[in-house]
Amino acid sequence: MPFLIELGKLVNKLVHDVRNPIGAIKGFTTLLQKDLEDQPKLHSMADNILMATESLESLVTRVLEYSRPLKLTLTNVDFVLLIKQVCKEYSEKNDENWALKVEIKPETLVFPFDMIRMKDALHHLLQNAVESMPEGGNITLALEVEGDYAVIRIEDQGAGISEEDLEQIWTPFFTTKRNAKGFGLPITKKIIKGHQGELELEKNGTQGTRAIVKLPLTGGKDGS
Ligand SMILES: Nc1ncnc2c1ncn2[C@@H]1O[C@H](COP(=O)(O)OP(=O)(O)OP(=O)(O)O)[C@@H](O)[C@H]1O
Ligand SMILES: [Mg+2]
Repeated sequence: MPFLIELGKLVNKLVHDVRNPIGAIKGFTTLLQKDLEDQPKLHSMADNILMATESLESLVTRVLEYSRPLKLTLTNVDFVLLIKQVCKEYSEKNDENWALKVEIKPETLVFPFDMIRMKDALHHLLQNAVESMPEGGNITLALEVEGDYAVIRIEDQGAGISEEDLEQIWTPFFTTKRNAKGFGLPITKKIIKGHQGELELEKNGTQGTRAIVKLPLTGGKDGS
């Protein structure tokens, strides 16, 4: 265990130290692009450097997000309002060939949670649902109260997840997508667990996937 803790610290330090040079490469490449406006071939090379740097930057951000302790800022807010806001933002952000149906049972549901983190988590589950349906389809987001829990179910009609992959989806870097990082679900689970909740993914009948989030109405507490 001490070895793992040491290794964790080392990864954290490495990722921190890599950030500055990435910023420098990004900054200088942007300047270069301006100077190369009349040289299309060199300009396109600079474009490629910038794209690769941005991908590296996003990886570093994800690794840091996953590895550093989760700090939650809990406030007593209406979860129904949050769900409505997330669904609105998500529908506005994307104009693809899918439809989002929202089914909310409670009129209000006030309990302590971290608004920003919870938004990130729900956005990510919606993002995965959309990405699983490249040809389009329907997504349903339902919110219910079951006992002492708020339960959110997000169902899609996408490709689904094989039994084999279901065992790996919580592992950082596991992805079946091109150009993806494989950090969305591990980070989302960390946020839900930080609220003392649970996140599971299962088959949605014969087609697609259902993500189930259970959050205790007593709220989470700080820490990872
Ligand atoms: N709704 C879904 N339908 C089908 N497969 C899914 C769904 N959600 C997750 N998966 C599978 O789980 C894998 C891991 O998901 P995760 O969100 O962690 O990473 P990602 O989406 O591949 O990349 P990133 O989220 O970092 O952009 C996905 O690559 C995909 O194979
Ligand atoms: Mg994802």
